[in-house]
Amino acid sequence: MRRAVCPGSFDPITNGHLDIIERASKLYDVVHVAVLINKNKQGMFTIEERIALIEETTAQYGNIEVESHSGLLVDFCRDRGIPAIIKGLRAVSDFDYELQMAQMNHGLTGVETLFVPTSPTYSFLSSSLVKEVASYGGDVSHLLPGVVNARLVERIAERKN
Ligand code: PNS
Repeated sequence: MRRAVCPGSFDPITNGHLDIIERASKLYDVVHVAVLINKNKQGMFTIEERIALIEETTAQYGNIEVESHSGLLVDFCRDRGIPAIIKGLRAVSDFDYELQMAQMNHGLTGVETLFVPTSPTYSFLSSSLVKEVASYGGDVSHLLPGVVNARLVERIAERKN
């Protein structure tokens, strides 16, 4: 089985993430989507909610396994025999930090990082921007799967009440 991992915070999953996961799913037998837990960041969605949204929106690809992980990404990979990390690169501004992480991860365990250029349609897209725009009432429905947009609108309304 050829395995790869798409890691991230996924708070929440966007069409940009889905684009990368779908493309990875065509290259590997199994694609693990790892929701990394960052104890210093209070998310908009709980880890369980993020996993449920990812499972629902990636079910169509047929070879996706979704899990959370707290700790190093390299340990997640080693425990599951995953030799490759797939990362989307949106713009040159992503590159410095992504290169640093890729080199660190490779130095730690030899795991490779493969960069996939994001579709130009999503080159500006991030979960943080989507949340910010939505929280001021902006329409981000073209940037998210329908179910995620609905949950986001709901969550923002809950927080205002
Ligand atoms: O969606 P994000 O927040 O940009 O994803 C960043 C993420 C979660 C992939 C990155 O922070 C990560 O790999 N965290 C796990 C902890 C770890 O391994 N840190 C060392 C990186 S060299």
